[in-house]
Amino acid sequence: MHADIVVLPGDGIGPEVTAAAVAVLQAAARRYGHTFHFDTGLIGGAAIDAEGTALSDATLDACRKADAILLGAVGGPKWADGAVRPEQGLLRLRKALGLYANLRPVKTHPVALTASPIKSHLLTGVDMIVVRELTGGVYFGQRTRTDTRASDLCEYSVEEIERVVRRACTLARERSKYVVSVDKANVLETSRLWRQVATRIARDEFPDVRLEHQLVDSMAMHLIAHPREYDVIVTENMFGDILTDEASMLAGSMGLLPSASLGDGRRGLYEPIHGSAPDIAGRGIANPCGAILSAAMLLRHSLGLEAEACCIEGAVADAINNGALTADLAPSGTAIGTEAMAAAVIARLEVDCIAVELRD
Ligand SMILES: NC(=O)c1ccc[n+]([C@@H]2O[C@H](COP(=O)([O-])OP(=O)(O)OC[C@H]3O[C@@H](n4cnc5c(N)ncnc54)[C@H](O)[C@@H]3O)[C@@H](O)[C@H]2O)c1
Repeated sequence: MHADIVVLPGDGIGPEVTAAAVAVLQAAARRYGHTFHFDTGLIGGAAIDAEGTALSDATLDACRKADAILLGAVGGPKWADGAVRPEQGLLRLRKALGLYANLRPVKTHPVALTASPIKSHLLTGVDMIVVRELTGGVYFGQRTRTDTRASDLCEYSVEEIERVVRRACTLARERSKYVVSVDKANVLETSRLWRQVATRIARDEFPDVRLEHQLVDSMAMHLIAHPREYDVIVTENMFGDILTDEASMLAGSMGLLPSASLGDGRRGLYEPIHGSAPDIAGRGIANPCGAILSAAMLLRHSLGLEAEACCIEGAVADAINNGALTADLAPSGTAIGTEAMAAAVIARLEVDCIAVELRD
């Protein structure tokens, strides 16, 4: 198949990890006979420096025309106090493309368990997916600021809640048919609406899916204490942002976790959950696995290439479990760099794909 992919490397380690993910996509294209055309654009601080805006209309237009968008990360100290902030580009992109559901899978790998600060016996077999609402809530509400006060408005409509809960319940049907919806319904009105709508959608449209509710503060605790109990988690924008950073510690590193941001159509935005990591940028040591696994999600959700996606995921797991580890996961002295990690995945991708083809 032919696909047009816009790559937005962004800032900090963004260009390093997206280069690795593009190399893996090219390898998958070669292996399976696809043609992927890559167009590169600016976002975040890089766009502010070059174009005076965090996401230009021209780049947004290119994203609208593409089959999928692969993004690195935005932000950094250089732009922290400017009038235009790098994050504005990302928020604009998500909103403009109607990407309301952010899927964040969290899986543990046997060899990486020791990189987690959590006891290994709690982590074995963790395999969950957090569905974070992405275009509503406090991140998009009206902001006010005086010298002595500030406010950020948190709003949700019934429709915004319905569509993301539907997405989570649909995903659950392909997994264990169990969804935990996270809110703060004992305090917040938006959460009371969230809980009411989630209950109705599950009851009326997904009678085969078991829905439970959990308050976000206790969820923060249970996620660490009993991570294996969870399968699909659905929650609002800010709770999802915070809980998935916490969940990254189950896997051992921020650098391992991918995400897919989806709307009603097939076009999606794919990015690792981590930020631009200015502390390690430019050193060639960033873990590219979150970006590579995001590329696998791109193949699955935007291009419908399930076998190719599984092959990349298998290659990443195999590389990690055979000791190909970047500095965030490896004891000092044994770590490999970003490019070597991508090469390890590509080498296995080719072998794994042959194995899949022979089996089929
Ligand atoms: N989606 C995004 O683009 C996004 C998300 C979060 C933060 N940010 C921005 O990124 C900048 C830095 O934020 P932060 O430091 O809070 O979060 P961060 O995710 O960039 O880094 C947190 C820690 O994790 C490490 N880390 C992150 N990704 C890694 C990888 N791939 N391999 C190895 N180690 C990795 C970093 O070195 C750092 O120690 C800020 O400007 C922030 O606004 C952007």
